[in-house]
Amino acid sequence: MSSKTSTITVDGKSVELPVKEGTIGPSVIDISKLYGQTGMFTYDPGFTSTAATESKITYIDGDKGILLYRGYPIDQLAEHGDFLETCYLLLYGELPTAAQKADFDYRVTRHTMVHDQMNRFFTGFRRDAHPMAIMVACVGALSAFYHDSTDISDPHQRMIASMRMIAKMPTLAAMAYKYSIGQPFVYPQNDLDYTSNFLRMCFAVPAEEYKVNPVLSRALDRIFILHADHEQNASTSTVRLAGSSGANPFACIAAGIACLWGPAHGGANEAALKMLEEIGTPDRIPMYIAKAKDKNDPFRLMGFGHRVYKNYDPRARIMQKTTHEVLNELGIKDDPLLDVAIELEQIALKDEYFVEKKLYPNIDFYSGITLKAMGFPTSMFTVLFALARTVGWIAQWSEMIEDPSQRIGRPRQLYTGAPHRDYVTLAQRG
Ligand code: ACO
Repeated sequence: MSSKTSTITVDGKSVELPVKEGTIGPSVIDISKLYGQTGMFTYDPGFTSTAATESKITYIDGDKGILLYRGYPIDQLAEHGDFLETCYLLLYGELPTAAQKADFDYRVTRHTMVHDQMNRFFTGFRRDAHPMAIMVACVGALSAFYHDSTDISDPHQRMIASMRMIAKMPTLAAMAYKYSIGQPFVYPQNDLDYTSNFLRMCFAVPAEEYKVNPVLSRALDRIFILHADHEQNASTSTVRLAGSSGANPFACIAAGIACLWGPAHGGANEAALKMLEEIGTPDRIPMYIAKAKDKNDPFRLMGFGHRVYKNYDPRARIMQKTTHEVLNELGIKDDPLLDVAIELEQIALKDEYFVEKKLYPNIDFYSGITLKAMGFPTSMFTVLFALARTVGWIAQWSEMIEDPSQRIGRPRQLYTGAPHRDYVTLAQRG
């Protein structure tokens, strides 16, 4: 705790509040005793100025466009590391040694299969069910399959549950995809790396040999790294809030998936691609820019803007590079969607409205084009995001559970409804 304090005056009475300092980034005013001292709450819809927790996992400087996992810049991790190494880093705080990495990879790999009865769970869904609906249900249902890892007070059970979720998420995601297209489920093949295994479960069919394309596997692995954590975003805060009541981790992650589904959050990659398709050709861009700027039109440029980044999203830069790599590898010389995206970005970055509001492309702007080129339907985009973000959710959830000062999350409110009034019987109501 720093020696700095902050003083606020309420109804002429001054109250001194402690200031807490982090290693980098803004300090916070500790208002936890404010209500006791003043009888007032603070008011901050959307948590724009409220730190809900202390955390050592991920740091973002939105003005400078910086993203660090446990101190390491995202571009270095994406360039040199792999996704499971990033998982280890997020969970344990340090990059693994070679032996630790081999052990971790082995432990995750050993958990890739799901209970065979899960297959029957899937058949309860209509074929046209959105795969995110299936994911919310199936991940929540894991708690019904793995009773031996739902005691959150036991560190060993917490670790097993974490491994299970990281390992089974690709299997469930691939099953959701296969079910939607009427193809048989493909079981995991554990001599493949995490991402190659996922690609095979999605795109192999039993009738043919499937060879994983290493360029696509590396690109998808990098996409997973970019999505692995993003500090206290809406879905992560949802996971923490759900977990604060002591709910089991499978249920908490299911809550995170539900939150991620929304178009203002993880659903934006799907929405961004649909928008690019709707725009269709570069000549129609000015019309859509005008719609985005029109206060009376609810349309927004999807894949643009971010609550925290008021500069270019560092993930969007890596994503853009990955898009080009994937399209080159697949021999896609002219992708009309990419043409629209590049021109839309250039026009928006020069437009006064976007410049003034500091609206830059976010990670979702280019990810849809890449995933589509790899063969994923738009409905799977957010599922892939959920797959990658699972480790971040788990790391944040574990950090919360291990924090001795952790209490149930319980926001307060400013009540603006009817004051006290007496019940009127049905006969007396006019
Ligand atoms: N297109 C047009 N105008 C926009 C956009 C956009 N994409 N984003 C924000 N604005 C405008 C708003 O209308 C608002 O204008 P005003 O001040 O005149 O009222 C101003 O910029 C600030 O926007 P807010 O909605 O207040 O900002 P907030 O931080 O609440 O929202 C959000 C951030 C939800 C990401 C928003 O920028 C948005 O809806 N973007 C499109 C959806 C998207 O791409 N989401 C992905 C986020 S990244 C992720 O989840 C991985």
